[in-house]
Amino acid sequence: MTDYDLIVIGGGPGGYKCAIAAAKFGLKVACVDKNDIFGGTCLRVGCIPSKALLHSSYQYSHTKNDLSKLGIKIKGVNFDLNEMLSYKDARVQELGKGIEYLFNLYKITKINGLGKITAFDQGNLEVSVEGKVLKTKNIVIATGSDVSSLPGINIDEENIISSTGALSLTEVPKRLVVIGAGAIGLEMSSVWSRLGSEVTVVEFFDRIAAAMDNELSKSLLSSLQKQGIKFLLSSKVEEIEQGKTLNVKVFSTKDNQMSTIEADKVLVAVGRKPCTEGLGIDDKIGKDNRGFIQVNNKYETNVKGIFAIGDVIGGAMLAHKAEEEGVAVAEVISGQLPHVDYEIIPSVIYTHPAVSSIGRTEEELKNAGRKYKIGKCQFAANGRAKITDDAEGFVKVLVCSETDTILGVHIIGAYADTLINETAVAMAYGAAAEDIYRICHSHPDINEAFRDACIDAFFKK
Ligand code: NAI
Repeated sequence: MTDYDLIVIGGGPGGYKCAIAAAKFGLKVACVDKNDIFGGTCLRVGCIPSKALLHSSYQYSHTKNDLSKLGIKIKGVNFDLNEMLSYKDARVQELGKGIEYLFNLYKITKINGLGKITAFDQGNLEVSVEGKVLKTKNIVIATGSDVSSLPGINIDEENIISSTGALSLTEVPKRLVVIGAGAIGLEMSSVWSRLGSEVTVVEFFDRIAAAMDNELSKSLLSSLQKQGIKFLLSSKVEEIEQGKTLNVKVFSTKDNQMSTIEADKVLVAVGRKPCTEGLGIDDKIGKDNRGFIQVNNKYETNVKGIFAIGDVIGGAMLAHKAEEEGVAVAEVISGQLPHVDYEIIPSVIYTHPAVSSIGRTEEELKNAGRKYKIGKCQFAANGRAKITDDAEGFVKVLVCSETDTILGVHIIGAYADTLINETAVAMAYGAAAEDIYRICHSHPDINEAFRDACIDAFFKK
């Protein structure tokens, strides 16, 4: 007799979505998490709190700097950091309650504690939580990822902070050095720069947001520089000396020179690593040389009945990618035939302007020798963007020269985050640029920019 059909270890977006999907398919499910608020990194110290702070800090700087030209005159605009932090924390609590509500609704057992796998035989799998042994037919490992650091740099969350620390600073640092110009580095730079910090971002590559289409990276760099953020590209942080202030030693690979930047806080945002500590799987479940759990195309590990999804198996470390895999693995276990289309997972950086991307970048198409056409629409030509005073940026559509099929869409602009989801639907249905051209879009709206970029591509020779 088993206690459960499925135990999910990890209650983040991958894990809790998996638990809910499996319960909908009629399985008896438990979900274990070491934190009392379920929702994982995304809810507690990732997507949700960072977007709350991005929203508050943007509202502050927008009200202070931009509203006057719309005829709104506000004197003495100020902010209260403690209230901003409380606002963020309240949203986290509320959304955590939402997950509890769904668990109750679908009769999923929520177990608080560190889950460890203690028996690995098919049909006789066991998970121990705080000394209690639970028998189950299947296990899904959805334990996510942890912050990475650099050799010799100790993240103490006091002076040298990770993204977690950067979400809870109780004072605005006068000088903040950010190591890494990926999503975390750029979003947190935006928050603290808007609130008054002098921010310097040090990035190893010669461009920021390196995974994005190059044209997007260049435009975002120029926008963020105009907002006052400084960038040192082709530069590597070698060490940090801790004294009265922090001395960040930076080696420029372009000039072969070493320099020092003084900082009050340093944010280390150089990526994340898979989290498998304490699971008890080390000599049982196969991992690759970077520690990611290895799975086949059904998310099965080398042990029958044990599956893994999300950040812990690698690929794009995105909440929505983990969610897709969570639902898919629940479908595998329930005997359905799932499919995750990894080609069309959107990615977004929530700066202002935001950048978003889906499908192939121009560089990837060039390297693959594909023939493509570019369709573009500048937001300066879009009515909605103009009237809302957010006309910076563009939509860039990459279309197959032979078939007119959309191969990639790259957007920089105030609405890039929501607009990318129309492009995802289009690409999921294999849309050609002409298909979008022939679909009526409401006016005046931001989505017209995607349509106009498709029209531009369709009529290009
Ligand atoms: P990342 O991998 O996206 O970027 C890290 C950057 O640090 C890279 O550009 C790398 O070249 C640079 N770097 C590494 N070592 C360095 C050194 N010694 N000196 C200077 N630069 C150095 O990692 P990030 O931003 O920490 O994000 C972690 C994960 O979380 C990513 O997979 C990201 O996609 C995800 N995430 C997604 C968000 C979103 O979807 N909006 C928001 C936040 C995180």
